[in-house]
Amino acid sequence: MAGSMKALRFHSAKDLRVESVPVPELLPGQVKVKPEWCGICGSDLHEYLTGPILTPAVGKPHRLTGCTVPLIMGHEFAGEVVELGPGVQPGRLKVGMKVCIEPTLFDDTCPPCLDRRRNCCEKGGFFGLSGWGGGFSEYACLQEKVVHPLPDNVSTEIGALVEPLAVAWHAVKASDHSPDQSALVVGAGPIGLAVLFCLLAKGCRQILISEVSPQRIKHALDIAASHPDVEIKVLDPTKEDVVAKAKELCSQGNQGPNTAYDCAGVQKSIETAIGAVRKGGLVCNVSVWEKPATIDVNALVFSEKKLMGVACYCEGDFQEVIEAISTGKIRNPEKLITARVALEDAVTNGFEALMKSREHVKILVHP
Ligand SMILES: NC(=O)c1ccc[n+]([C@@H]2O[C@H](COP(=O)([O-])OP(=O)(O)OC[C@H]3O[C@@H](n4cnc5c(N)ncnc54)[C@H](O)[C@@H]3O)[C@@H](O)[C@H]2O)c1
Ligand SMILES: [Zn+2]
Repeated sequence: MAGSMKALRFHSAKDLRVESVPVPELLPGQVKVKPEWCGICGSDLHEYLTGPILTPAVGKPHRLTGCTVPLIMGHEFAGEVVELGPGVQPGRLKVGMKVCIEPTLFDDTCPPCLDRRRNCCEKGGFFGLSGWGGGFSEYACLQEKVVHPLPDNVSTEIGALVEPLAVAWHAVKASDHSPDQSALVVGAGPIGLAVLFCLLAKGCRQILISEVSPQRIKHALDIAASHPDVEIKVLDPTKEDVVAKAKELCSQGNQGPNTAYDCAGVQKSIETAIGAVRKGGLVCNVSVWEKPATIDVNALVFSEKKLMGVACYCEGDFQEVIEAISTGKIRNPEKLITARVALEDAVTNGFEALMKSREHVKILVHP
């Protein structure tokens, strides 16, 4: 199918354009998808503000895709299958099926990939940041194995939330947190709230959330209100000592939560996470840092606390999130969606709106 389509492309910081570009060619082993909803992610915002960060720098083709700017953006998306490429057998995927996309790009050949850690691929990137297309467009062609069918009871709007939920799902899984343990989530942005949803899906009974922004506190309280059977406490570090409060609230067996998730990525948040977690507990860092943090390593040593990092998601995470939504374990994830905008309005009512206020959590674009 030749012709052109509309797409939102990254040229440079503060320069995103809705343009007419060629419809991508469908290669063997690929599936052509028509994106219906695509979320704006914090990393998209970072590119918009100070990019290129994950997008390749001018004149430096991406190490895996070989693509250079301008590039189509958007990696949190779901839509409809419109065509199967040569070699793709109809079965798991069919034309007309609703699907969501796992956007990590990996070479499948480097040592981390062979070690089943494609999220740590030496050449890794993202569909929607590193080339080959993106979700803020009318069509996208992707390898069959990164296209995941959505059950009938999961809409493409919710499908666009699977990606951030998969980040959180992977974090909760990697941290080995068990339902009878207590958790602290530092930062209630889209990722922190997604961690909250995944902890709830796991059946956790005691969850603390620390957040500085009044608007985001409101979102966390709203999710908490829809789970009255679970002890969810939202703490405000501008008003109380979160470390002391966490120790007081989680005092079964040992003081402090078993696991703390840093989903804010600032010096204060990692200090809170390390300070609050119980002796022998785990700090799971989900944040991507703009600059290095200062860590008091002795605070780990003499309390035998552990610190780990988690990146994206691996094989199985997308399928598990889709199933958790479909079976109601992840309940009402649409609470993360605070606005829906057309592609033409994505910059003003999407990117700019997210920068102006923390009232928004997830804004979805309808390409
Ligand atoms: N590991 C991964 O694969 C992965 C994937 C996606 C995003 N991320 C990262 O996760 C982090 C969170 O993403 P997001 O989109 O939710 O970001 P966000 O900026 O929207 O949310 C961060 C929240 O932390 C709050 N905060 C700031 N300082 C705080 C403090 N001292 N105590 C408590 N809360 C505080 C902010 O008010 C904000 O609501 C970012 O660093 C992002 O880059 C990581
Ligand atoms: Zn690799």
